[in-house]
Amino acid sequence: MLGAILTDLTAMATGLAVSGKPLLISQKAAPIGITPSIVCINPNYAANLGKIQRLASCYGIPQVFYTGDRIRIKEGARLPREERMKGFKDVQLIQYDRPLDQFKDATPVAIEVRENAESLFEFEHPDNPVYVFGPEDGFIPQAILQHCHRFVVVPVRHCMNLATCVSTILWDRELKLHLAGKVMKKITPISWENRGGQFAEADFE
Ligand SMILES: C[S@@+](CC[C@H](N)C(=O)[O-])C[C@H]1O[C@@H](n2cnc3c(N)ncnc32)[C@H](O)[C@@H]1O
Repeated sequence: MLGAILTDLTAMATGLAVSGKPLLISQKAAPIGITPSIVCINPNYAANLGKIQRLASCYGIPQVFYTGDRIRIKEGARLPREERMKGFKDVQLIQYDRPLDQFKDATPVAIEVRENAESLFEFEHPDNPVYVFGPEDGFIPQAILQHCHRFVVVPVRHCMNLATCVSTILWDRELKLHLAGKVMKKITPISWENRGGQFAEADFE
């Protein structure tokens, strides 16, 4: 039931329109955000967004929010093929311009190259994170930063590709959860997809 409601809300948010009509999340509706989550501010490249959706699926993150209208996923249109595996349908891609309003109990974490940001080496991931990332050609705007509780920089020599940065953060979280004894079950693509050791071409759409 909840799944069906969320699917409808996602369709409403993205304008992907199950019914054929583009709809919007009502400002009055209850927040739909589920942590851990990812927010991309005004991304420019569908390939990056597709990679991020794929990463979210790999790490069991149920929703990816993004703002702006530079990536338009119209009815019938889809993300690049290499980023579409059947399993990715378990991740809702939600276009919504006030994404942090969609979370009731969350810790927004700005991942950005900023003076005085905490290094990822020492960063302790909160239990209810919403990781916020900036666009490929800019930074997270002040209007969003002011709602963030934590500020983290990945300690490398240059600015990373957006999707690579998301990947780094999610792996760091997974590893730290593991080291803290909080990952109970070993999951691999073979066990999760029940592959029987074979990589199936049929896994792609
Ligand atoms: C390609 S970067 C944007 C370009 C960047 N603003 C610059 O310095 O030229 C896209 C986003 O990835 C994230 N990012 C990339 N490298 C990062 C790093 N080393 N530490 C933290 N965030 C990073 C940030 O969220 C950033 O807004």
